[in-house]
Amino acid sequence: MTRILEIGPSDCPRHDTDGVKLNDGDQYVAVDKNSKVFESPVWRELQDQFHERVEMVTADIEKGTEFDDGSFDEIVMLGAAMKPGHSDTFPPEINRLLKVGGILKIGIGDDERLSVEPFMREWMPVFERLGYKIVSKAKHKRTIPYQKDDGQVGHYFADSIVFTLKKGN
Ligand SMILES: C[S@@+](CC[C@H](N)C(=O)[O-])C[C@H]1O[C@@H](n2cnc3c(N)ncnc32)[C@H](O)[C@@H]1O
Repeated sequence: MTRILEIGPSDCPRHDTDGVKLNDGDQYVAVDKNSKVFESPVWRELQDQFHERVEMVTADIEKGTEFDDGSFDEIVMLGAAMKPGHSDTFPPEINRLLKVGGILKIGIGDDERLSVEPFMREWMPVFERLGYKIVSKAKHKRTIPYQKDDGQVGHYFADSIVFTLKKGN
């Protein structure tokens, strides 16, 4: 059984990875600080599909959560608050929640100056001190929906990069 936490899914759970695909017994918990995002029909559809194995929680990860230490096998965070200045709040709480040997996937914009360099400079040293190593990097083309002036839905594209980190012993 794998227990997955997604931080800041908004209304597009696991947007940059492979969507929410659960094997028998797996659990998926979504934490977003904006309760409104959970009003999107995508969450009702996921609960219709997976029932109580999908849980939505409104919480600010930077202020700490009520989950037990080491209670997740995998944590995913895609495009959520990846700004300079948060390296003293997100990484310690993520580290508290992820079990040893667990996987952390962090998605950021694929832009060297605006995203990758600040991530490597501010977040990676913290994770390295906590015993994490980057095991892979994958590039994605994101398709992002938006509402046009005429009410139709349009799409635009943005590049992102997902770093997969493993928490060591
Ligand atoms: C830009 S959206 C990204 C949505 C989606 N993950 C994606 O890849 O498109 C950022 C989301 O992260 C949430 N968020 C930002 N900071 C957060 C925090 N400290 N704790 C929980 N959720 C947070 C926001 O409310 C928002 O829904």
